[in-house]
Amino acid sequence: MARGELLRKLFQSYNRSNDKDFRAVALEIIAEEQKKKNYQLAKDLLNLLENSSTPNLFPRVSNNFGTLPKDRERQTLLIDVRQPDRQFTDIILSAENKKIIQRTLDEFRRAELLRTHGLIPKSKLLFCGPPGCGKTFCAEIISREIGLPLLYTRFDAIISSFLGETAANLRKVFDYAATGRWVVFFDEFDAIGKERDDPHEHGELKRVVNSFLQLLDNFHASSLVIAATNHEQLLDPALWRRFDEIIYFPLPSLREIQTLLSMKFKNYPHKAIDFRTQASRMKGMSYADVERVCLDAIKICIIEDQDHVDQKIFDEALKRQKMRLQITKKALDKKIT
Ligand SMILES: Nc1ncnc2c1ncn2[C@@H]1O[C@H](COP(=O)(O)OP(=O)(O)OP(=O)(O)O)[C@@H](O)[C@H]1O
Ligand SMILES: [Mg+2]
Repeated sequence: MARGELLRKLFQSYNRSNDKDFRAVALEIIAEEQKKKNYQLAKDLLNLLENSSTPNLFPRVSNNFGTLPKDRERQTLLIDVRQPDRQFTDIILSAENKKIIQRTLDEFRRAELLRTHGLIPKSKLLFCGPPGCGKTFCAEIISREIGLPLLYTRFDAIISSFLGETAANLRKVFDYAATGRWVVFFDEFDAIGKERDDPHEHGELKRVVNSFLQLLDNFHASSLVIAATNHEQLLDPALWRRFDEIIYFPLPSLREIQTLLSMKFKNYPHKAIDFRTQASRMKGMSYADVERVCLDAIKICIIEDQDHVDQKIFDEALKRQKMRLQITKKALDKKIT
C-alpha cells in the first residue's frame, strides 16, 4: 500500500480509538521498512509498538450504559457491552448466507414500513455450525452494520449453581436488554438449550429453558436478538421455532480457504507461496484455524527478522497448527468415550 494511504489509515485508526486497526497498520509500516532493508528502524518501531506502556493502546472506554446486571452470589457481570468495528468485507460468507443476512438487515432497517403493512420484521436469529466459522464474528459485524452496540452474554456467566439463580440471571439480562436498542447476542447458547428430556438433567435446566422461551417470546423491544451454538443437535426442538432465521456457518471450502489466505497476506510481504496448493493442505480446518496459521507465519517472519513469509515459514506455522488440532481432537475423543 502506498505510504500516504498507510499514514492516512494510521491516523484514522487513532481518531477512532481503534487499537486493532492501529496495530495492523503499524505492522504494515514496519513490514515496509523491512522490505526497504531499513532493519534497524523496523526493529525500533516494533519495540516501540510492543513495549507501549498499556497492553491495549486504546483501552475500551468504560461503558455509558448504566449499571450492568450481575450474578447475585458471584458478583460477576452477566453482560458485556461491545462496539465492534469489523465490517462485511472482512468476513467470507456463502452467497446464500450473505443474502439471508442482508435481507434480515433490510427488514430490520425498514421495520416501520413493514409494520405499516401489518407485518413483523425478523428480529430473532439462530447461528449454528462448527467452531471458528464466523458466528460471533458475524454478530459483531451485524452490530456495526446496523449501528447498535452488541450486548454480549455468554451462557456460562448466566448459569449459576444456586437453585433458581440462573432463571433470575436470565431475567436480569432481558430486563436490561429492554432498556435500549442493541444486538443482543447469546453466545454458547447450547449450555442452556440442551434437550429438556436429557436423562442426566434434574429439573433446573428445564425451568431455565422454559423461562428463556418465555422471555424470548415476550421480548418485543426493537433490538435484534442472535443466539449462537456449535452444538445445534443438542437444542431443544421447542427452541428452533422461536427463531425467524436459522443460519448455518459451515467449514470453509477450498476456494474459501484460498480467499482467506489471500486476505490475510494482502498486506504482508510473501514470496512463492501458492495459496491454491496451501488451501488443499488445509482442508477441514476452520476459518479461525487458517487465520492462526497466517498470523503465526507472519509472527515467525517478524521475530526472525525475515523480510517476507516464504514456504518454509508457512510450513512451520501449518505444522504447528496441525499438531495443535491433533491434541485438541485427542482430548475431545477422550471426553466423548
Ligand atoms: N467466515 C469467516 N471469514 C473470515 N474470517 C473468519 C470467518 N469465520 C471466522 N473467522 C475468523 O476466525 C475468528 C473466530 O471466529 P468466530 O469467533 O466467529 O467463531 P465462532 O463460529 O463464533 O466459533 P465458536 O463456536 O467457537 O464460538 C474470527 O474472529 C475471524 O477472525
Ligand atoms: Mg463464537
